[in-house]
Amino acid sequence: MRTIQWLFFISVALFVSGIGFVIAAARTSREAPAAVEAPAAAPVASIKQVMQGITMPAATSVYNAVGTVMNADGIKETAPQNDEEWTALASQAAALVESGNLLLIGKRLVDSGEWVTMTRAMIEKGQLAIKAAEAHDKEGILSAGSEINDTCDTCHAKYQRQ
Ligand code: HEC
Repeated sequence: MRTIQWLFFISVALFVSGIGFVIAAARTSREAPAAVEAPAAAPVASIKQVMQGITMPAATSVYNAVGTVMNADGIKETAPQNDEEWTALASQAAALVESGNLLLIGKRLVDSGEWVTMTRAMIEKGQLAIKAAEAHDKEGILSAGSEINDTCDTCHAKYQRQ
């Protein structure tokens, strides 16, 4: 008699919790419609290819954007000349920042310590360059450029295989 009572209680309990799950599931599907699932990234390039193909050209654009060129004709100031050129510069700085993100995925993530810290430093300084370009701020580009350059050197001193 006791055993039968227990079995009854257990089946009632299972039934009630089953209903609970059904309600919870229904709620979740109603409250979180169509969450976009990120497809898995499939990194292909080596670190060196990211450096040579994206990081270096993007950084060079920032370094060369503002400055003084001296030649036979005299001294010439260089800087983006119009909105289009500033926009192009901001995009180069953005490519530099994104190349940092590429260093943090797949086999290119060398370790989860200093590699991440040093990559984030480059990303952060790159963002200064984006802001400066958006503000058409020549001084800002110069100082962001030198700070970006420091982040390259810091990482290469520790990680670059010669
Ligand atoms: C988080 C670390 C890290 C940062 C930050 C970094 N690099 Fe590198 N870079 C490397 C490593 C590691 C290599 C060597 C890759 C190899 O040879 O396999 C490398 C290689 C390079 C190379 C290729 C050198 C060659 O052998 O031809 C260039 C160019 C380069 N980096 C440019 C830059 C520039 C410019 C920046 C800054 C804007 C920068 N890197 C920032 C880690 C970094």
